[in-house]
Amino acid sequence: MSDHVADPHSHARPEEAVITHMALEMNVNMEERVIDGVAAFDLERRKGDSVIFDTDGLTIKGVTTRQGQPLAYALGDSSFMGRPLKVLLPEGCRHVRIAYRTTAASRALQWLGPSQTADKQKPFLFTQGQAILSRTWFPVQDSPGIRFTYEAQVRVPSDLLALMSAQNPQERSADGTYHFRMEKPIPAYLVALAVGDVAFRPIDERTGVYAERSMVDKAAWEFADMGRMVKAAEELYGPYRWGRYDIIVLPPSFPFGGMENPVLTFATPTIIAGDRSLTSLVAHELAHSWSGNLVTNATWNDFWLNEGFTVYFEHRIGEKLYGSAYSEMTALLGHQDLMATVKEIEAGPHPQDTRLKLDLAGRDPDDGVTDIAYEKGYGLLRLLEHKVGRERFDAFVRDYFDRFAFQSMTTERFLGHLRSALLEPSGVDVDVDRWVYRSGIPDDVIVPVSDRFQRVEQEVARWQAGTPASALATQGWSTFEWIHFVRHLPQELGQERMAELDKAFGFTKSGNAEVLAAWLEQSVRNDYAAADGRLVDFLNTVGRRKFLIPLYEELVATEKGKAMAMRIYSTARPNYHSVSVRTIDDLLGWSSGKGTVTL
Ligand code: BES
Ligand code: ZN
Repeated sequence: MSDHVADPHSHARPEEAVITHMALEMNVNMEERVIDGVAAFDLERRKGDSVIFDTDGLTIKGVTTRQGQPLAYALGDSSFMGRPLKVLLPEGCRHVRIAYRTTAASRALQWLGPSQTADKQKPFLFTQGQAILSRTWFPVQDSPGIRFTYEAQVRVPSDLLALMSAQNPQERSADGTYHFRMEKPIPAYLVALAVGDVAFRPIDERTGVYAERSMVDKAAWEFADMGRMVKAAEELYGPYRWGRYDIIVLPPSFPFGGMENPVLTFATPTIIAGDRSLTSLVAHELAHSWSGNLVTNATWNDFWLNEGFTVYFEHRIGEKLYGSAYSEMTALLGHQDLMATVKEIEAGPHPQDTRLKLDLAGRDPDDGVTDIAYEKGYGLLRLLEHKVGRERFDAFVRDYFDRFAFQSMTTERFLGHLRSALLEPSGVDVDVDRWVYRSGIPDDVIVPVSDRFQRVEQEVARWQAGTPASALATQGWSTFEWIHFVRHLPQELGQERMAELDKAFGFTKSGNAEVLAAWLEQSVRNDYAAADGRLVDFLNTVGRRKFLIPLYEELVATEKGKAMAMRIYSTARPNYHSVSVRTIDDLLGWSSGKGTVTL
């Protein structure tokens, strides 16, 4: 644990002084949209006379010792990584307290007004730390290779509940003060906070759901399998080590599908479809309780270790609970995404980004969040499973999580261990370096096969050959078959053919966000005006980046669409989290100042 690898995305120098525990005191002002805080750290000192923290968009008010003696400090230059905060340490000083305030540039935070919530009554706040945004809401050594325990005292308006990635309350306190404790060492990107008028519903003895009042029963129904998922995960790869496993359903602007904050997964409401069809996302975030939260990528260049393992684990949970026909459909959808992503990256400015091991020095680690980490990573692990056999592979993975629990992992260390603990003893030969250090998808990739998807493709073909949409054999199709159907339609359809499909299957009215998003993409491409209203509404409320990117991309492909995109974005932009704003600003060439529309 003590050997730190250099992290190109943090200013910290853990080889000199490293944090081991953080005590946060925070006052959350929902009206002024500011957190006033003190972050106090226990340090382990190794050499030198200073400690360096990461900060970004914070006002530093002062730095003292535990007893309140002022300490000399200096803020360095600002870059996309924020500003280093260097504190001079007197001899023997192993504790510093940093008083600070967040600002409008604290990009982890999304402050929502009542109208941006489900219940429309109270404001809401949530944080998003991964990858390098935690430093925007508290000063910290913000590197995934640096772990610490934490406690927090949080004050919020007394009509709101505060929750963190820690042991959580299930009810509001009388005075709006809450205490939190995370006793396992975690990296800074996993520290998280949500504040809102949310209620709790248990699923079983150790799992449950938090959501706004109008959603909480629906959410509890949707996630009824959570308890079984945890048990399935434990049977596969060993004990769940974090106590409770709960999920909070956030307002629709949450920029991701889910975020694996320990003990409390943060989730988008777009997975609540009313039929439990999109809950594989919960399996994914739960799987991170092993891959990511227990064994953590040492730097963002090793991100594939977090996500590739998690996708693999997610599919294994899916297979255990719902069978292999189900997990193979989801795996095949992932493989198709991967092939499209590889093409895109190869045509772009950083073709080397199709390697599993990335080199993101000098770039925003967000650039590494692509299907390569997820799906190429999955592809390698699936290949390894296939080569050594499931039994051997499972024993290896289980031991891996035990052996390296609460440690960070580099790609190189993983490969060394893989060779000595799995490949050599099994006498199996896989060109792992080809997968990890070279571009593209190697020929030995295993492409998932799905009979059910083949049948969907047959129905698309029959429709193209003249069978009316209403006469297609779609009975009993799951959400995944519908997604596959919509994605596999010919690109050029025209308004009339779109209308025929819509009449037969009601896509524009779909309550399933995945099906709807795929359909809206087709609608934009085919200038299907009947879906415009739904499109505008969707883009104005949903901030999940995975849905926004393809829709805006499709819009900007034509002049007319581009004008529409600009119009929609001018009202939608204030509803998005900074993570999505950055991405869509780039995509549209939006510069703030241009057409910033109020209301
Ligand atoms: N940890 C990720 C989300 C993330 C990655 C946030 C990198 C910031 C930087 C999370 O586990 C994730 O992968 N979410 C996916 C869901 C999924 C089922 C693939 C998402 O949000 O779509
Ligand atoms: Zn993930």
